[in-house]
Amino acid sequence: MLNVTYYGHSCFLVETGGSKILFDPFISPNELAKEINLDGISCDYIFVSHGHPDHIADLEYLGKKLDCTIVSSFEICNWISDKGIKKVHSMNLGGEWDFNFGRVKMVYAAHSNSLPDGTYGGTASGFVFKNTETCFYYAGDTALTNDMNLIPLKFNLDLAFLPIGNNYTMSAEDAALATDFIKCKKIIGMHYDTFGFIKIDHQKALESFKAKGANLTLMGIGETANF
Ligand code: NI
Ligand code: MN
Repeated sequence: MLNVTYYGHSCFLVETGGSKILFDPFISPNELAKEINLDGISCDYIFVSHGHPDHIADLEYLGKKLDCTIVSSFEICNWISDKGIKKVHSMNLGGEWDFNFGRVKMVYAAHSNSLPDGTYGGTASGFVFKNTETCFYYAGDTALTNDMNLIPLKFNLDLAFLPIGNNYTMSAEDAALATDFIKCKKIIGMHYDTFGFIKIDHQKALESFKAKGANLTLMGIGETANF
């Protein structure tokens, strides 16, 4: 069981293993998330999939304000460290680490990765989380990629967060195909509707997943649910 709150775009807060974990904070510039009070958010960790603005807009602010650890690529951790945030944990593809809430593996994401000032961000990534309560995959921004087939060799996923907005990432149709690769049929959609190129037809997206025997959840912004 996993407690999940959606803050819009690809930003979620999950609570597991006694820790609050925030993903890809992009809240204050998001028109669709203007009801969310950024200062009402607290977390123990911020996981960052890559350095594009729609994933890190509020990273520096929250990282400085909260006593939390930022987990991301070596390059992004160095970049944020240079801004004065010293609680970082850098990882690279294929690596696993036991945090106090459970184990995390950094996995490949087929996407580009640079910071807003042009700094190289390393490889874009996703993360697989595993503890006694749950096992889930946060894909970040990615195309449908064969590497997803590697995940179920080691992990029995209960849940996956997949991008479905098309144009910058895989479409809902491709994400539905990904459910066969990752052998997980319980999906939370992300990276859709936020701006013009990624506005999607919800009904069509839900049907694409249904056709693959999968269940897609499109959370409301500000909504909290258990999975
Ligand atoms: Ni991106
Ligand atoms: Mn993005």
